Amino acid sequence: MCGVVGYVGKNNAIPILINGLSKLEYRGYDSAGVAVFDCGKIKICKTKGRIQNLQDKLFVNPLKGKIGIGHTRWATHGIPSYRNAHPQFSDDSKIAVVHNGIIENYMAIKEELEQKGYNFISETDTESVAHLIDYYYKSGMDILDAVFKTVERIEGSYALGIICRDFPNQLIAARKDSPLVIGIGKEENFIASDMPAILNYTRDVYLIDDNEVALLTADEIKIFDQNKNEIKKEVFKVDWDIEAAEKSGYDHFMLKEIFEQPKVVKENLSRRFKEDDSGVQLDTIKLDKKELLDIGQIYIVACGTAYYAGLVGKYLIERVARIPVNSELASEFRYKQPLIDEKTLVIVVSQSGETADTLAAMRLAKANGARVLGVVNAVGSSIAREADDVLYTLAGPEIAVASTKAFSAQVTAMFLLTLHIAMELDKISHDEFLTIKNEMENLPSLVNNILTKAPVIKRFMQKYINSKNVFYIGRGLDYIVSMEGSLKLKEIAYLHSEPYAAGELKHGPIALIEESTLVIGVVTQEELFEKTVSNIREVKARGAKVLAIAMKGNREIEKYADDVFYIPRTHWMLAPLLANIPQQLFAYYVALGLGNDVDKPRNLAKSVTVE
Ligand code: M6R
Repeated sequence: MCGVVGYVGKNNAIPILINGLSKLEYRGYDSAGVAVFDCGKIKICKTKGRIQNLQDKLFVNPLKGKIGIGHTRWATHGIPSYRNAHPQFSDDSKIAVVHNGIIENYMAIKEELEQKGYNFISETDTESVAHLIDYYYKSGMDILDAVFKTVERIEGSYALGIICRDFPNQLIAARKDSPLVIGIGKEENFIASDMPAILNYTRDVYLIDDNEVALLTADEIKIFDQNKNEIKKEVFKVDWDIEAAEKSGYDHFMLKEIFEQPKVVKENLSRRFKEDDSGVQLDTIKLDKKELLDIGQIYIVACGTAYYAGLVGKYLIERVARIPVNSELASEFRYKQPLIDEKTLVIVVSQSGETADTLAAMRLAKANGARVLGVVNAVGSSIAREADDVLYTLAGPEIAVASTKAFSAQVTAMFLLTLHIAMELDKISHDEFLTIKNEMENLPSLVNNILTKAPVIKRFMQKYINSKNVFYIGRGLDYIVSMEGSLKLKEIAYLHSEPYAAGELKHGPIALIEESTLVIGVVTQEELFEKTVSNIREVKARGAKVLAIAMKGNREIEKYADDVFYIPRTHWMLAPLLANIPQQLFAYYVALGLGNDVDKPRNLAKSVTVE
């Protein structure tokens, strides 16, 4: 989604804004712009397309200033264009605004302001904010009051960066339902919609909460609550290495993140088994037998890849810990008036901790009295802060739009949760626990083993890159893995692909199978092997090519598939994590082979902060 950056200090704002925006590129965008206070005027440079285009423009017409705001826009209201790019100006260029989010009542505000003589140039919702601040300011309010009055009027979500021509030394920021942080520097301060934008300059930040407004100068940061009372906030220290947000020699963030998975899984397991081997220790989360027996129902709620990780959780908690779990897409959850009460545990899964639908689902659950456990990657994110308990997934910053290491971390969290609940409720024996624990501790080296075989996957890519349609099929846990594999291929390779529960093929989709179809058959679950093999034979008989992902040692599959990728042997419940790695690599190489921008796929944003 959009990225917001702002700077006030003693240095030239332009390179800092451009650097910040380039660190936010991963969020997805289609135009970019900056505004600085330069020689008594606010000057804007903006353009459709990449930040490089913006830099080219600035090279020809350089701007300079010690205060500025910058933006990468992911179009919602109006096409990607110069006019619609941010910053957006008020009528006489007195006020410039950058905005992440959606102003839901902008049409009503626009009509009202047009009647007062305001002239709208863009199709954006954001322009109404610039004019509204201008209107209140010119009607006699001081600039901060004008901003407060404006945020009181607007409905929807926003992270705003605002500068005003009459105040060449101050930057104003405001937030509701859209992430915003303030970076604390020495004789300089920053705003950003995400940490990577300011990590080159500071690790000390204030996390801005909903309805707060901040006033920044080079030497001072004042933060106000919605009643305009100044508030004191704790400084949050960002503990990532700067390299965590860099490519470190890899061609793409996605590839780097795929190769980080052994480390990420290891990190997630470290200190999460009790020292006396009696069970799992989920950080500070209690969820003991008494609490678990008190829980009437469990929901797991998430979007996209995180939803699939949640499905693994549902499958395992039901099968191993023997309690029913509802799994829901966060984007649907609210609309079905879910039956939630104080006896409900809602587990929300999110890499960013800012996904609008997941956040809204969580808030609905909390409002109905449910206890919320966040399984979250981004430390300090909205979900992490608002959930009752948080199990961090410790994957470090995930920059590529296609989620890879975050999925492995989330699935590892689901393994841990399953084991914890099963042990607390005496659903598995101590011996079974130890067997699974030992297998889990092997996972980092097994993931590593798969990664050494990346060249094999690259060869499969060369063979299958011209497939017209790709079906991913599997049963049970393999079906969930298929869903994630198919999503990855769609989002970065732009290839039409569908995941199917293998047994469902005969109920319709098999009609689509023809010679140009590739079927990826996931067959890691021994007890379902024969059944899925029958489905593989059915698609083979209709001319499809089959690439199978199977557990090492299972040579029988070679009789039916054109190619097989073997994952190392592991406990059945851990197989989804391993089986997904070749799928990630396959999607990566196909996308690369097709010449796509792997890290920034078209139309997508890393963190979906609008509904
Ligand atoms: O940040 P979240 O985990 O809440 O994001 C959820 C989805 O938007 C995300 O997993 C998305 O599906 C990814 N692009 C998939 O690769």
